Amino acid sequence: MKALVLTGGRGTRLRPLTHTSAKQLVPVANRPVLFYGLEAIRDAGITEVGIVTGDTGAEVRAAVGDGSRFGFHATYIPQEAPLGLAHCVLIARDFLGDEDFVLYLGDNLLIGGIKDLLTGFQDSGHAARLLLSKVAEPQFYGVAELDRDGAIASLQEKPQVPRSDLAIVGVYAFSPVVHEAVRAIRPSARGELEITDAIQWLIDRGHRVDPHIVSGYWKDTGRLQDILECNRILLEEIETDVRGVVAGYSEIGGRVVVHPDAVIEDSVLRGPVIIGAGTKIVRSYVGPFTSVAESCVIEDAEIEYSIVLGGSTIEGVPRIEYSLIGRDVEVTRAVHLPNAHRLMVGDHSKVQLRI
Ligand code: DAU
Repeated sequence: MKALVLTGGRGTRLRPLTHTSAKQLVPVANRPVLFYGLEAIRDAGITEVGIVTGDTGAEVRAAVGDGSRFGFHATYIPQEAPLGLAHCVLIARDFLGDEDFVLYLGDNLLIGGIKDLLTGFQDSGHAARLLLSKVAEPQFYGVAELDRDGAIASLQEKPQVPRSDLAIVGVYAFSPVVHEAVRAIRPSARGELEITDAIQWLIDRGHRVDPHIVSGYWKDTGRLQDILECNRILLEEIETDVRGVVAGYSEIGGRVVVHPDAVIEDSVLRGPVIIGAGTKIVRSYVGPFTSVAESCVIEDAEIEYSIVLGGSTIEGVPRIEYSLIGRDVEVTRAVHLPNAHRLMVGDHSKVQLRI
């Protein structure tokens, strides 16, 4: 069995971060979202992984390399434009050959792995198996409707009127018959070759597609609130490991991870919190569910329920929460009059000032 992991796409909902970076590489608990998926694939015993890349291909390659650090062999498959999930399967035909495979959307976070999804699939003779999860707002996802036998009867892609509350999770198992389907379908109204249309094509021709309901936590990390929630869920599971320098009147409570090269000085860290390599926290408060990546400086500041990416500085700012702060960002106090906010904010940024 092989795996096909998708890292292309547009990432419009996480702009401005995704203007320059892959949305699948946004870190949660200080590790790229994509890595959790790659580890789940490795843990399922898969050793051949195809990675479909888009504009951010160089960054993805730099992060994943030849796959050996994960324990598999990575093959990169560049996609010229985000033409749809089924288009990714189409262009990966040579890599996939005539084997069963897992399709894994690189921005999906699934806690608990994919072994359950795959158990028995190869012997079942079925065309596909889909992971499904009950959600409150099915209109934002692909939606599956089951028949009386428990097989999937029909699928809709982001329907205005969903036929069920079962969302399609971005992890699918396919037999090679899907290649016929992706060749047969036409682009949807939004101009993409939809994997839901390919699966519907299979169902319409009498192939059986099985559901597998997710038992653990699942999130598509496409939006700010989802990334922050994933960060919270993953930080819930960390175990205290404070190795850096903790100096002065510092106080560390709850589950906290401090990298050996980090420095905590006269600060309060209230876990769960993770602090990355080379980061300095000085006279500051870092509150629950916060991940601060490598080479950051947080000085005379307070921050909580947030993610800070590498190389950023937060200085002299009383309280930040519910925030995603990109790479090499500066958030500082304005020392000169007039008493005003001074912003240099990228395209599609969101700034909320509590005045
Ligand atoms: O997350 C689950 C949902 O994923 C399913 O419920 C939907 O049925 C499915 O269509 C998909 O919807 P999204 O709108 O979330 O898909 P998105 O465009 O975000 O793409 C998913 C991943 O695939 C993302 O990591 C980007 C990558 N991608 C996407 C497209 C369209 C590619 O690599 N190439 C592409 O052409």
